[in-house]
Amino acid sequence: MTQASELGIGVAGATGRTGGRVVAACLRDPELRLVLALASPTSSALGSDAGELVGHGAAGVPVTADLREEVGARPDVLIDFSVPSASARLAGWAAEHGVALVIATTGHDAAELEAVRAAGQRVPLVLAPNTSPGVAVLARALRLVARSLDASFDVELVDVHHRTKRDAPSGTARALAAIVDAERERPTGISSLRLGGVPGDHTVHFAAQDETLSLTHRALDRTLFATGALRAARWIAGREAGVYSMDDVLFAS
Ligand SMILES: NC(=O)c1ccc[n+]([C@@H]2O[C@H](COP(=O)([O-])OP(=O)(O)OC[C@H]3O[C@@H](n4cnc5c(N)ncnc54)[C@H](OP(=O)(O)O)[C@@H]3O)[C@@H](O)[C@H]2O)c1
Repeated sequence: MTQASELGIGVAGATGRTGGRVVAACLRDPELRLVLALASPTSSALGSDAGELVGHGAAGVPVTADLREEVGARPDVLIDFSVPSASARLAGWAAEHGVALVIATTGHDAAELEAVRAAGQRVPLVLAPNTSPGVAVLARALRLVARSLDASFDVELVDVHHRTKRDAPSGTARALAAIVDAERERPTGISSLRLGGVPGDHTVHFAAQDETLSLTHRALDRTLFATGALRAARWIAGREAGVYSMDDVLFAS
């Protein structure tokens, strides 16, 4: 049972690289309570204790794949770091049960994204292709730069991620390019590099004949994404139904 002062958190993708960090950060925070840990139906971790998997010690929350056999208390907020095909099903379940959402998974196709956004008609959800506060600030700076530089500047965006990342370009690269494209006539070129274990770098290059200007964000550790997702979870809990962004989390009251 969650105490009145605790926010109940569910994590989809709890056995993954990033979801595991969310589980660990949640278990370290006395104001949060992990109540649900989801993985794929074929996960080798089904039935294992989510806390033990991240080296925290037993949390009393077994990893499950079956929302019908939901284990433990229903979360106040479900944080999704899984796969695009799972997000719509999770969002539908959350909408049905009044659970707020932080959708941090990326790479959805148009139908998957539409299904996720539809949940926003019934529950509050943060759609966050990047949960880093620094990227939210970069997005604002980028809008200003794109609006301020004239058409003689070429714009190219480079995203660098670890070799096992599934989507290319990254969700963040697409979102940043959309911001620039809204301010300029020529579409922004995107190059995606998949290298080693890089958590996530994004650089937007502006270049004219005589000068260049580049804006870079570099994630140094995946815990950044976990901390940002939990910040979004605290912010979204108890809000009106709707689709919100990390910009709202950081800058709206
Ligand atoms: N928004 C952000 O700031 C941000 C930051 C980092 C990553 N991401 C995104 O988050 C997602 C996860 O990234 P990652 O690097 O952590 O991936 P990962 O290490 O491959 O983890 C994926 C997780 O999803 C689970 N999963 C796989 N298929 C599933 C299904 N059908 N239903 C439910 N769960 C399923 C996996 O469970 P098992 O392996 O146990 O089967 C695992 O727990 C990606 O879309 C990535 O782009 C977003």
